[in-house]
Amino acid sequence: MENINWGELPFGYFKTDYNVRCYFRNGVWGEIETSSSEYINIHMAATTLHYGQECFEGMKVFRGKDGKIRVFRWEENAKRMQRSCEGVMMAPPPVDLFKAMMIKVIKLNEKFIPPPGMGASLYLRPLTIGSGPQVGVKPASEYLFMIFAGPVGPYFKEGFSPVDVQIVRDYDRCAPQGTGHIKVGGNYAASLKPAARAKQEGFSTVLFVDSKENKYIDEAGPANFFGIKGKIYVTPNSKTVLPSITNMSLRTLAEDMGLKIELRAVLVEELADFDEVGACGTAAVISPIKKIVDRESGKEYTYCCNGNAGPVSTKLYNTLKGIQEGEIEDKYGWNTIID
Ligand SMILES: Cc1ncc(COP(=O)(O)O)c(C=O)c1O
Repeated sequence: MENINWGELPFGYFKTDYNVRCYFRNGVWGEIETSSSEYINIHMAATTLHYGQECFEGMKVFRGKDGKIRVFRWEENAKRMQRSCEGVMMAPPPVDLFKAMMIKVIKLNEKFIPPPGMGASLYLRPLTIGSGPQVGVKPASEYLFMIFAGPVGPYFKEGFSPVDVQIVRDYDRCAPQGTGHIKVGGNYAASLKPAARAKQEGFSTVLFVDSKENKYIDEAGPANFFGIKGKIYVTPNSKTVLPSITNMSLRTLAEDMGLKIELRAVLVEELADFDEVGACGTAAVISPIKKIVDRESGKEYTYCCNGNAGPVSTKLYNTLKGIQEGEIEDKYGWNTIID
């Protein structure tokens, strides 16, 4: 294993030994290539640079106390990448290719998989780009699918502690019938300005409202929103929200815990009725929220009155993390062990 200060790792880029790549040319995917370069050499007219033909995924690999290496629900990432590719007219990498490249990049960088108990993991970043040239607005005829890997620490340094979030109404991350449901770069470009402003104003992230009516809760920055109301787990079913694999898993666990699941439109005013609220995604699993401030009206919604996450969020967080790290029985078969 590498000599790294695992406990101090940020959630950021970390150079490792290898990445894997595969080109789609003349209508077919080629051989898997291994590279130790951090750079890609692409045509200056590549469609990814001009017309945003790009999508990506984010997933984590854990080393358990039993020494086993686990990847969580990778098929869902593979399928979501296919949907993202189709959404911006790129060639979707087949699931088997995704799997082979994922296993290869994990094995090649095995020494960078953090030891258990540090809150750290090996983050995988699969991406597909239009690498072929076009000048007219058209899809490319060549694509590059690659996966790089790097060890990361927890998303929030504070760990599982509640954060403050700002509701924004003067920026939209995507159009009502646009690309919010797929993981394409443009959505993230559109979110950078409001997110940077929210940070400057003392918030961890933003809460977007729907861009058509400005009434309903949409995404919580680069994560899904959920709220707990008594024995009900509520999460938006908006068409502009990315179907989060974490949220999907939390819903299964919540049901297991006896909660009812409501996938529906969530009015901003309903924030006043929730006992617990949080953002969920691969990076942090759950970020409990202690305060939501509506930037426009100044209205505040507060939670976590004792300063800690609520009991339901805490149980969900510990259970999902426990499954991912091999500490709790994986009864749904979500983990793939990499031998
Ligand atoms: C916009 C957005 N929503 C939600 C999520 C959470 O999805 P997942 O749980 O699959 O990581 C992400 C992260 O991938 C995201 O970027």
